[in-house]
Amino acid sequence: MMDWTDRHCRYFLRQVSSRAFLYTEMITTGALLHGNVERHLAFNVEEHPVAAQLGGSEPDELARCAKLVEQYGYDEVNLNIGCPSERVQRGAFGACLMAEPELVADCVRAMCEAVKIPVTVKHRTGLNAMDDFSFMGKFVETVSKAGCRTFFVHARNAVLKGLSPKENREVPPLKYDYVVRLKQDFPALEIILNGGITKMEPFPGVDGVMLGRTAYHDPWVLADPGKSRADVVKAMTKYASKQSSLRHVARHMLGLYHGHRRARLWRRMLSDAARLSQNDPALLLEAMEAVESTKFPEMPDERRSQAEQVEVR
Ligand SMILES: Cc1cc2nc3c(=O)[nH]c(=O)nc-3n(C[C@H](O)[C@H](O)[C@H](O)COP(=O)(O)O)c2cc1C
Repeated sequence: MMDWTDRHCRYFLRQVSSRAFLYTEMITTGALLHGNVERHLAFNVEEHPVAAQLGGSEPDELARCAKLVEQYGYDEVNLNIGCPSERVQRGAFGACLMAEPELVADCVRAMCEAVKIPVTVKHRTGLNAMDDFSFMGKFVETVSKAGCRTFFVHARNAVLKGLSPKENREVPPLKYDYVVRLKQDFPALEIILNGGITKMEPFPGVDGVMLGRTAYHDPWVLADPGKSRADVVKAMTKYASKQSSLRHVARHMLGLYHGHRRARLWRRMLSDAARLSQNDPALLLEAMEAVESTKFPEMPDERRSQAEQVEVR
């Protein structure tokens, strides 16, 4: 997720879950071909399985970028045909390409010819007023013939005029029935459902689920059975000691105790600017011990908050 996730975030999520397949945020072909490849593509081997997501609309450029992704050791390369932002529309890629299935097929074909790793596509259920099932069905049929076997469907129409990217993730209604029907019509394809999913559990009628915002705000929904948050914090403390900025690591961990009775204390300790600037990863252990301490029994919110303040001091 652009501006939210990065390799520190993926490393953290991997400590939480050994089962989840992780994805980079969208990286544009322009950024890779004219920018710092290492900065965009470097990742930790512990992140596997991990995919890189590309944004672009020029087959030759996408093929070159897919090659770079493969050379860096990613397990999959994904093409974004779902992003509605204006910046992306100006570059003529993202969700607006749903209206050009033949061009997307050319892109996928060129990428498939360039690499051995799977080439997958993430898209929407429709675009603007083109929101009937057959529009999406035609898109998937055309693109699958070019070699894509796995489709991630954000189950909402993309509305390119009048809605912000944020509204585009909330306003158009979710159409899970479209995604289930897609699987029925194309049983040989792998169809993954995205949009509003809050649990890492099978969804009837599709092959899998992709979680976006919930995975970021409440990462414990991805947790392996038997794993404890303390295990994760200890692993992250070790990891943070090898990174240049504790702040860059800790910011992704704010949701770790989401729903816990001392979640607020955790967030407050991990956002303490003075402590973060000292760059001492022991802050993570300290915060974990404060949150998990049994010093303060369960109590109503207000009294708890006072007790937490005492604890922090
Ligand atoms: C801040 C932010 C950035 C996002 N960036 C990307 C992106 O780079 N690539 C992508 O495919 N989707 C991106 N998305 C969309 C999510 O991946 C997902 O499709 C959408 O939020 C719906 O799923 P959810 O309800 O599980 O969050 C982004 C979403 C947010 C909130």
